[in-house]
Amino acid sequence: MVPEHIQSLLPELVAWRRHLHAHPELGYEEYKTQAFIMKTLESQGLKPYAAGDTGVAVDIGASGPLVLARADIDALPIDEEADVEYRSQNPGAMHACGHDGHVAMMLGVAKILPELLAQSGGRARLIFQPAEEKHPGGALKMIRDGVLDGVSRVTGLHLQAEMPRGRIGARIGVQSANSDRFRILIEGRGGHGSAPHHTIDPIPVAGQLIGALQTLVSRHVNPTDAAVVTISAIQSGSAFNAIPSAAELKGTVRTFKQEVRDSLEGAMRTMVEATAAASGARAELDYMRGYPSVVNTEPEWRLFRAVVDEYAGPDAWMDIDERMGGEDFSYYLQERPGVFWNLGAQIGPNPYPHHHGCFTWDEAVMPLGLFIMARTIMAYTGA
Ligand code: NI
Repeated sequence: MVPEHIQSLLPELVAWRRHLHAHPELGYEEYKTQAFIMKTLESQGLKPYAAGDTGVAVDIGASGPLVLARADIDALPIDEEADVEYRSQNPGAMHACGHDGHVAMMLGVAKILPELLAQSGGRARLIFQPAEEKHPGGALKMIRDGVLDGVSRVTGLHLQAEMPRGRIGARIGVQSANSDRFRILIEGRGGHGSAPHHTIDPIPVAGQLIGALQTLVSRHVNPTDAAVVTISAIQSGSAFNAIPSAAELKGTVRTFKQEVRDSLEGAMRTMVEATAAASGARAELDYMRGYPSVVNTEPEWRLFRAVVDEYAGPDAWMDIDERMGGEDFSYYLQERPGVFWNLGAQIGPNPYPHHHGCFTWDEAVMPLGLFIMARTIMAYTGA
């Protein structure tokens, strides 16, 4: 259970979180957020430094194995609809994914960790990463700036508004999806709407592709594997009586396994080119790989599970499913062993989902979150 001196940090955590919530900044624009984190860490007697352009890192502890713990700090391009007193004061930006809470909890970790590590040994690098929501992801910039240098294990957490309050879960192995984007440009030949035989109409080709691409999921991918192909934008034409010369489709592909990702991309390319060719058109697939899957390592999962059972109580644990969302913490896990975990913070029976303008979550879970984060860091240092 959470010790009293950590539980009593709640008002301060809430104040930090609400300040950040009222002043959200989008990816790579987190200047005020960065300054706020710096100032708060300095007021705690620490020596933070800038990393990843608009991010922050701070090292704690004198000697021993070095563990990295990450909070993401960016907001989303969404107008806040929630009627709360600390609502966003920046139109077009909102902390609609809980990253404000991630920052507040990590500032709390920074507050309690120096004393804990002074007793037990071991070192921690706490990082506040920009642009988790914006491809190609702030994690790559942080890694480029050397935040993984000397690090032996990594951890990070995400609040989940659709998971019961105070419950904690993580998977062994794959936990989130490979998150890719694509654009298909179909080139035909435009002309008068009354004379289709003089044109190469790109619109029926687009229509065929919309249907045909779903057969890749149902006919090409092994039924025991998972994949999503979503076409999210269609653009072509503007007049009642003209056949346009081109059409564009955009969308996203989500997969868990690398093999499925590779073979789906190849099959899509074949289908796009061949479907267009069958109508005398030309089509090109621009397939843009995004975040890879979060893959947790088993030894670190076992250490984490033991921390949760000991410090949050055996009832706190919750087995979770893979999610089709993307998460750039995967880049740290490609380089170092570790665990990315979820903390439930649900309010009421029908919570708004993440990335919704009414998104909200229960601030009361923050002391538990930072306590488990601090204990996980200690476990990962071998203390
Ligand atoms: Ni998020």
